[in-house]
Amino acid sequence: MSFNVAKVRKDFPIFERTIRDGKKLIYLDSGATSQKPLSVIDAESNFYKFHNAAVHRGAHQLAEEATDAFEAARLKVADFLNAHEDEIVFTKSATESLNLIAYAMSNAEPGSAFALTSNNRIVVTEMEHHANLIPWQQLAARTGAELKWFEVTPEGRLDLSKIDSIITEGTKVVALTHQSNVLGTINPLDAIVKRAHEVGAVVVLDACQSVPHMPIDVKKLGVDFLTFSGHKAVGPTGVGVLWSSLLNELPPFLFGGSMIETVTMTSATWAPAPRKFEAGVPNMAQAVGLGAALDYLTAIGMDAIFEHEVALTGYLIDGLLQIPELSIVGPNNTDSRGGSVSFTVGQIHPHDLGQYLDSQGVAVRTGHHCAWPLTRKLGVPATTRASLYLYNDESDCDALFAAIIGAQKYFA
Ligand code: ALA
Repeated sequence: MSFNVAKVRKDFPIFERTIRDGKKLIYLDSGATSQKPLSVIDAESNFYKFHNAAVHRGAHQLAEEATDAFEAARLKVADFLNAHEDEIVFTKSATESLNLIAYAMSNAEPGSAFALTSNNRIVVTEMEHHANLIPWQQLAARTGAELKWFEVTPEGRLDLSKIDSIITEGTKVVALTHQSNVLGTINPLDAIVKRAHEVGAVVVLDACQSVPHMPIDVKKLGVDFLTFSGHKAVGPTGVGVLWSSLLNELPPFLFGGSMIETVTMTSATWAPAPRKFEAGVPNMAQAVGLGAALDYLTAIGMDAIFEHEVALTGYLIDGLLQIPELSIVGPNNTDSRGGSVSFTVGQIHPHDLGQYLDSQGVAVRTGHHCAWPLTRKLGVPATTRASLYLYNDESDCDALFAAIIGAQKYFA
């Protein structure tokens, strides 16, 4: 079930370079974006070199090849999620996927399943990053619906003790992250999905931090919508995914070419999903690159990737906890937790710490990690976050530990 990390690293050209005057690159920022294997870079570049044409429109060989490559990528995404290809929409990012759902809901005919009014409720959690919070705030503002949320416990878990009074009759949407980008917490979905469906609400899962790191089967998760971005899953930037089995019931969000069935000067009708949600010439090369990324991850094995990351997260947490004055924000063990580990170190401001770590070749993220309400709740101005992926190993963690100890001496 394991794989050779040194061999994996050789697939990623960026690890051939050094940084900051010849230092080895210790990349611990995959929660923000992952590095790319050569097969993904080649797939994107080969699309432009050999097959570039606008998909779904041209009557020529290149258009046929481009369409085949684009639709093959859709099938790869579907297989990766154990879904049907017609349930997969390509967007530009997970952020766009989430906005798509929220805007499409506000385009729903009054009285229809997805239409919200001031009698309805939208439920989120305190651990959402901005992409899965602000679109729902805005949907609430547009429709008059009430926004409620699950709180986060001091251990960094969702407090589900009031689930029945948070997800009430009239709740139409429950939107939550699968794995927190700050805390690393993997949220328990069964109780939430059960309660949401009891009251007729749909569950929207932000899977940006889970799809790249663990096996995902949408049928087993039981959610209604799932979103993720390509660039966090060793794929290109500029491509996101929206999965749902309810796409045909949802009105469109963006209007234009390709998403129509018929058009007159005064009206239009829509193509079936997923085309209904892909107006304009789509991000073809990026979708093809994402297909190559999912091929790459599948070849290594999502079970093996998850197992590797859990073991490495344990090593990272154990090492961090031995550093004086260091506090981990989020679960201190590997139970239901992924490889994003945020922490504070005494009085050293995370931005200063990040800069010092960078001087030692260690790339981390500092700040509120696009989850400002959570940072506020945790009572810290900011944190430093190390986030792991399949190309990291113990030596990366050791380099981080040494650099933090160096920073403590430097700022003493
Ligand atoms: N949500 C991304 C992160 O956690 C951007 O860094």
